[in-house]
Amino acid sequence: MTETVLLVGGGGREHAIARAVADDCALYACASVRNPGIRRLADGFEAIDETDAAAVADYALDAGADLAVIGPESALEAGVADALDDAGVYAFGPRAEEARLETDKAYQRRFMEENAIPGCPDYAVFDDTEAACEHIDEYDGDLAVKPAGLTGGKGVKVIGDQVTAEEAKAYLRDSDYDRVVLEERLVGEEFTIQAFVANGDARTTPAVQDHKRAYEGDEGPNTGGMGSYTDTGFSLPFMTEGDYDAAVDVLDAVVDALPDYKGVLYGQFMLTDEGPKVVEFNARFGDPEAMNTLPVLDTPFVDVLAAARDGESLPELSFSGEATVCKYAVPDGYPTDPDAGAEIAVDEESAGDALLYYASVDERDGRLYTTTSRAFAVVGRGDSIAAAETQAEDALAAAGDRVRIRHDIGTAALVERRIEHMDELRS
Ligand code: AMP
Ligand code: GLY
Repeated sequence: MTETVLLVGGGGREHAIARAVADDCALYACASVRNPGIRRLADGFEAIDETDAAAVADYALDAGADLAVIGPESALEAGVADALDDAGVYAFGPRAEEARLETDKAYQRRFMEENAIPGCPDYAVFDDTEAACEHIDEYDGDLAVKPAGLTGGKGVKVIGDQVTAEEAKAYLRDSDYDRVVLEERLVGEEFTIQAFVANGDARTTPAVQDHKRAYEGDEGPNTGGMGSYTDTGFSLPFMTEGDYDAAVDVLDAVVDALPDYKGVLYGQFMLTDEGPKVVEFNARFGDPEAMNTLPVLDTPFVDVLAAARDGESLPELSFSGEATVCKYAVPDGYPTDPDAGAEIAVDEESAGDALLYYASVDERDGRLYTTTSRAFAVVGRGDSIAAAETQAEDALAAAGDRVRIRHDIGTAALVERRIEHMDELRS
């Protein structure tokens, strides 16, 4: 039987999801942005705000969908999974209560503590800005300052890395967040593991390293993610297999504590000299991390979705064993002062063997323009990170000079630096 799937969301991550399912299902999609890549793959598309839970559920019923995949966290927070489930459309994405694992960082840390999930840093929660500032003054060591709610990955300030203690306090006083989490600064190398979760099963995918800082050499402000890479196996060059397994144990412990959780569980880890610690959990695929893992997943993703819906054990996953390198092209000035409306010169043919994923672009009269967010990404694949990196760079040669790219992502020099960093920490 051919499944009818509704995809919620219109970014690069959702373009990757669309490509992973389009050949095996009837695909409908809705999002506030008109992603040209998704629209080309879908049998139907409706411009609907992905946080309008009732409108999404109505569209799912109109389209005859019996399954839905939810991309963005904003939709999860708005209760889109709840509305779809209540309408009888199985949503592969957690209900708003369980998505608090991502949408409420104070809840997330308390959940870890109460359920003895390994890898929780020392933390404290504050509803009062001055009390938080006092904690910064008194704490013995550097802290990460994190607004409790969603900030698109851009709200966190790390003392001793991006800001001084004085700047962190000024940031808190200027922003006036209702609630903040102050936690021990973790030092090490970051990696992500995404798991497909349903019916008490968790099936994990290869570890990914994202690059959040805007400029080459990990300089500049945090972004939604400038690009990312995976290796040919499940682990990354700076990790041991034991580090990967320890992180998977953390995800398994979360699923044991939340047996009804369904959707993607994303663990963001810091590999410290004491092993992996949890930076955060997300309740959905990463963007860009979905673009690294879905193209190398050989198991049809629709089979995972259908098993999840049918209450069955999830299929064991198989992967192609290729390394991947993803690089985003973003508007000049992103993220602080993005140059929207610049025409971008890229098309699927010029990408060659690399995969092209559209994110936030405006399509007018057959031409593509930047918006204020990440514009498009390319993913190279190969039998090594270096080969995948070369393929991604070849595809970007035609991108033009109105977009900015972190050319260092996936290069031998940067990968080597990560290995040296871990070696130093562990010696
Ligand atoms: P988040 O929004 O929690 O993903 O945080 C964004 C980024 O801030 C992470 O990817 C890390 O680079 C950094 N970060 C968050 N928490 C910590 C921490 N406890 N120690 C060091 N860096 C952190
Ligand atoms: N790549 C970071 C995120 O999706 O949150």
